[in-house]
Amino acid sequence: MIAKHIKNLAPSGIREFFDLVLGMSEVISLGVGEPDFITPWRIREKAITALEEGLTSYTSNKGLFSLRKAISDFYEKRYSLKYNPEEEILISVGVSEALDLSLRAILEPKDKVIVISPHFVAYPALTEIIGAKPIYLVTRQEENFKINLKELKRLILQKPKAIILNNPTNPTGVVYGVDELKEIWEILKKTDTLIISDEVYDEINYVGKPFPFSLVSKNAKEKTILLNGFSKAYAMTGFRVGFACANKEIISAMTKIHSFSIMCAPIISQIAAIEAFKAQKELMQMKNEYKRRRDFIVRELNRLGLKTIKPDGAFYCFSLIEKYKLDALEFAKRLLFQEKVAVVPGTAFGKEFSKFIRISYANSLENLKEAIVRIERFLKNIC
Ligand SMILES: Cc1ncc(COP(=O)(O)O)c(C=O)c1O
Repeated sequence: MIAKHIKNLAPSGIREFFDLVLGMSEVISLGVGEPDFITPWRIREKAITALEEGLTSYTSNKGLFSLRKAISDFYEKRYSLKYNPEEEILISVGVSEALDLSLRAILEPKDKVIVISPHFVAYPALTEIIGAKPIYLVTRQEENFKINLKELKRLILQKPKAIILNNPTNPTGVVYGVDELKEIWEILKKTDTLIISDEVYDEINYVGKPFPFSLVSKNAKEKTILLNGFSKAYAMTGFRVGFACANKEIISAMTKIHSFSIMCAPIISQIAAIEAFKAQKELMQMKNEYKRRRDFIVRELNRLGLKTIKPDGAFYCFSLIEKYKLDALEFAKRLLFQEKVAVVPGTAFGKEFSKFIRISYANSLENLKEAIVRIERFLKNIC
């Protein structure tokens, strides 16, 4: 019954693993990539009021003009980056949908897409669903998981249609600064490769200010599809609202697909998202708390011999378990069954990462402390 290319598609390594967690009690989950905070009250209140007022209809396919305008104003005010809210912004159901739409809008079957690994699980899957081909640029812990420019130059020779950049990065927490983005652009600018820039973690940056890839040079904007949303920064994963900013030809193509498959993002979520731009104090509070947890967990993981680079952004660390002679899946399964701590095996983010685990520190400091006690006991027992 099922189409061959879907049958052959590997399931998400994260979901697969977390099916094991379901039904187990007292598990400390350092697995799923979502904020442990509840959406700030002022945002929830707007959603409640909208419901009370009976705002329950469809919106325009592109999304509420008021939200597109708020996004446009935000980028212009903060970065002097101009996107016309009429034709260069589309509201989507999370960054997930925007990512799917951007790939579907630009790729022909057999086109190539550069995916930087370790990578967010959806990048290769959504590329393959279209019949296009991910080509991987594998980063290494010895190089701080940053893009190797020589490797990028080599892959570019294959004339990929697009490259997916993710800054800050899931699962490594890597943040590329302006100079590094400029070096990447110097290579890309001579090509026809489009840039899909997933900036969903842009606000969770502990070392500097967010920097949209479109700003890297005057000509970068035309070739970049900027993706962002509200899930991570404003703890709004369940609202399912994101957006894409790009030139009008690309946004129009994405809107065409979106209008047939989704119609529009939920109106209540769109109304709530407008308020998110005003929740800057709450955003800072959450970010400071993530930073405190990061400092704790990185120090402790290194103390336990799990080599971990201090992540500059997002809320993950990607730790080396090489010392313990178990592959990542076995390590994660045993840690789960013996000590009830859930982490994600590195192989969920690329087959080369069987010596790594991803740990999400979007969990309370109290839980992180208890998780470290359990991990330490686990490591003593497997020695
Ligand atoms: C890198 C990256 N991009 C996109 C998403 C999807 O975000 P959204 O909830 O906006 O669909 C995630 C979620 O984990 C992510 O890690």
